[in-house]
Amino acid sequence: PSETGRVLSIQSHTVQGYVGNKSAVFALQLLGYDVDPINSVQFLFDELEDYAGYPTFKGQVLNGDQLWDLIEGLEANDLLYYTHLLTGYIGSVSFLNTVLKVVDKLRAINPGLTYVCDPVMGDEGKLYVPQELVSVYREKVVPVASMLTPNQFEAELLTGIRIVSEQDGREACNRLHAAGPPKVVITSMNMNGNLILIGSHRKEKALPPEQFKIAIPKIPAYFTGTGDLMTALLLGWSNRYPDNLEKAAELAVSSLQALLVRTLNDYRRAGYDCQSSSLEIRLIQSQDDIRNPEAKYKAERY
Ligand code: ATP
Ligand code: PLP
Ligand code: MG
Ligand code: NA
Ligand code: MG
Repeated sequence: PSETGRVLSIQSHTVQGYVGNKSAVFALQLLGYDVDPINSVQFLFDELEDYAGYPTFKGQVLNGDQLWDLIEGLEANDLLYYTHLLTGYIGSVSFLNTVLKVVDKLRAINPGLTYVCDPVMGDEGKLYVPQELVSVYREKVVPVASMLTPNQFEAELLTGIRIVSEQDGREACNRLHAAGPPKVVITSMNMNGNLILIGSHRKEKALPPEQFKIAIPKIPAYFTGTGDLMTALLLGWSNRYPDNLEKAAELAVSSLQALLVRTLNDYRRAGYDCQSSSLEIRLIQSQDDIRNPEAKYKAERY
């Protein structure tokens, strides 16, 4: 058994490029976790962002029954003990319903299971999953999550609150705590041209949550896989510092920003126009920043 934990990570796999499991698994392994990935899809590359740039697209999608088959196989071999479940982009209601069955099954085996859910549904006002997924996340998934990592748009979809201020973001966190998860991180919100992250930890049901923000200067480029990496890093560090979500978020943001700066510099050095399309993160080259982040980005408590 590892000191840190054993994570079942159900996310997308891309043959080329780093989103979903391709970015989360490496990061968690660097932080010392045993990770068992189940690939919800296997695509040549990220179909959401890069499809337009390539002439040919190939890949396969795992359905809910095939996911359940793997879970039954693990159980039959007595391999279904996990400390953490991590889920990201899920493309269909039937797959998401099977994930809910997986949560129940894992908790029957380990009642202390931590379920870290990135409710990936969209960004910047645009939904990129079927509309029917929203109510399943809101009504069934949020209540069983231990930590939820929506972005601004996803937090709006889950709470019905229109988030335009930090106060709205904090209120959305309160609403989400009331529905279930004791830890909520709004991983990015647009605020006056820059980004902020809002974290909220409800340590006791009777007390107001501890809330903080981290200001993140916006880099003028578009990256993919960063949300998936962020959630993986938050899982990793918040398990290491279970009573200090602030510290976990500072470390996660600091790793990610070091990686993004490296990515931007590498592209620029190669003479690439960084505004023209989304940039592939320099994940492998940033392994030291993941293993030993320098906590440059500080949380400010509300
Ligand atoms: P989800 O996975 O739910 O879609 P998200 O929309 O917050 O979450 P991203 O937009 O990828 O995911 O942002 C995640 C993190 O990546 C942010 O908290 C920020 O630290 C970093 N990040 C992403 N893009 C930029 C950028 N252009 N400039 C600076 N930081 C960025
Ligand atoms: N494309 C695919 C196939 C994904 O699985 C995801 C996220 O899980 C994304 C795109 C979006 O990635 P991100 O929000 O990390 O940039
Ligand atoms: Mg975003
Ligand atoms: Na997120
Ligand atoms: Mg995203």
